[in-house]
Amino acid sequence: MIQEIIVTTTNKDGTTHIAPMGIREEAGEIIIAPFKPSATLDNILRNNTAVINRIDDVRIFAGCLTGRKDWPLSAAEKIEDFRLQAALSHVELQLESFEDDDLRPCFYCKPVHEVTHRPFKGFNRAQAAVLEAAILVSRLHMLSNEKIDQELEYLMIAIDKTAGENEKIAWKWLIEKIEIFRKESLKDKSV
Ligand SMILES: Cc1cc2nc3c(=O)[nH]c(=O)nc-3n(C[C@H](O)[C@H](O)[C@H](O)COP(=O)(O)O)c2cc1C
Repeated sequence: MIQEIIVTTTNKDGTTHIAPMGIREEAGEIIIAPFKPSATLDNILRNNTAVINRIDDVRIFAGCLTGRKDWPLSAAEKIEDFRLQAALSHVELQLESFEDDDLRPCFYCKPVHEVTHRPFKGFNRAQAAVLEAAILVSRLHMLSNEKIDQELEYLMIAIDKTAGENEKIAWKWLIEKIEIFRKESLKDKSV
């Protein structure tokens, strides 16, 4: 089972790096698998720590893919990193072992501290739709326009029927990103 969360790590200059990632749990360890190259990979290798943030504000997923990475942070308690203030819960991680790979290395991490800040309010279809759209946006270079339009048309149903304000904003950011990508691809072709 893969859970989509936000990983926060610390950059060389002390600022916090925010990235959506899919993580797995195995025998009490949390596995983070960033593709190469990535700031998350470099930061965990350098610091041996990371925080996973479980959120329901899907603007943060959409924001990370559309250049909006400035989200309020609080200091973690047992490690040197920061967590998202929006986290429903967060887990502070210490690196246990590293499995290198040319494409996608794996970090096996031990949870050293976990805090629940707010309750989970239940599933929301629009939040799931934003997550799916965020994944489409992260793969724009690999997918045809037809495939993207077909998926968006289906995901729109959940947005129309069940979105709150945050989901509508997140959806708008992602659609704008797709439109910009398409305009730029047309420009590249005409050159
Ligand atoms: C829901 C979701 C899950 C993702 N999961 C992963 C992942 O497990 N590994 C990864 O390398 N990138 C994943 N991505 C893409 C990264 O968030 C994105 O490429 C990011 O910029 C990582 O690189 P960075 O650490 O340099 O920022 C995911 C994106 C989304 C929207």
